Amino acid sequence: MADEERAKRKREHLELAMKQTDGDNGFDEMELIRPALPETKLSQVDLSTSFLAHELKAPILIEAMTGGTDEAAKINEALSRIARDLGIGLALGSCSIVEKSPESLSSFTIARKVNRKGLLFANCSPTTPVRAIRKTVKGMRADALQIHLNAVQEMAMAEGDRDLTWLEHIGNIRMSCPCPIIVKEVGFGLDRRSVQRLVEIGVDTFDIGGKGGTNFAQIELERGGNDNHLSTLADLGLTTAESLMDLRGIKGINIIASGGIRTPLDTLKCLVGGANLVGMAGSVLKVLKQEGEEGCRAYLARFIEELRVLLCLFGCQRINDAKKVEYVLHGKLREFAEQRSVRHG
Ligand SMILES: Cc1cc2nc3c(=O)[nH]c(=O)nc-3n(C[C@H](O)[C@H](O)[C@H](O)COP(=O)(O)O)c2cc1C
Repeated sequence: MADEERAKRKREHLELAMKQTDGDNGFDEMELIRPALPETKLSQVDLSTSFLAHELKAPILIEAMTGGTDEAAKINEALSRIARDLGIGLALGSCSIVEKSPESLSSFTIARKVNRKGLLFANCSPTTPVRAIRKTVKGMRADALQIHLNAVQEMAMAEGDRDLTWLEHIGNIRMSCPCPIIVKEVGFGLDRRSVQRLVEIGVDTFDIGGKGGTNFAQIELERGGNDNHLSTLADLGLTTAESLMDLRGIKGINIIASGGIRTPLDTLKCLVGGANLVGMAGSVLKVLKQEGEEGCRAYLARFIEELRVLLCLFGCQRINDAKKVEYVLHGKLREFAEQRSVRHG
């Protein structure tokens, strides 16, 4: 694809993501049981955590969004300063563009210039040439590489890929990438079987990217994509809550929960459901665009403080204690979790 077209697509994604309305992330049907006797002190609640051997001040990740254009460089620079100041993680958008436009590399490496020690992820598609990946990972000194699975988006895009055979590519990237890899979805959720197939080839870190937030089928429809299929494509996938339930019991994996996370309570529910880290893209982008860098930093700082209050109220002194919070599932989420656990034993 021509560089100009790719850059235009990136601009359109940013614009259209801003206009998206909230979807259903499934967490309304997960009810946490709050202990009336929490036995915690707010001053002693510690939100710090370690992810891929990196220390974070809170279990939050600003998710992959952009790179490759001048506007993207400005966004990445601002997000990187925010992540540095708050001690949280940051993933950048896909580096596929670096193959054809080597000058676009600076829109990615800027993040590392600003945030020299923070947790930083590069991002690519399964078919991004290894050369572009190595160049970006090295330039960013990335701590990990996210490989995104975006099958629904590809089908929805008029110019999208129709070849969805990715497993071998992922294996090759894993073997040649100088840092750990994370496989993620982009808003349609990860299912148990796909994760197990990836575990078999040595992947152990996953980012759910579930349904309930940014919806790329809808975005592609608005860009004038492949209208014949789109009415159904926008409804496909697992919500973030369903995806989290589907991955329960898979041993030895790290989970980032993302997709439609809008509140500290959603975040706590992700931690209770087994996530190690919680990611947000669309909601952060909206605040950044509407309230600027200061506003976005203040918003995330408040978000983290509220998470601290919630942990205290639910009797958790540390992030890991969240896994002991009791919960019940209602409605569709309960049915989903029951049927999937019967089927998987
Ligand atoms: C403007 C925009 C651009 C995105 N670009 C990428 C990308 O390049 N690579 C990727 O893996 N995910 C990308 N995503 C998906 C997010 O990383 C995330 O998985 C998804 O938006 C779900 O999170 P959300 O509901 O909090 O937005 C993008 C999201 C947005 C809003």
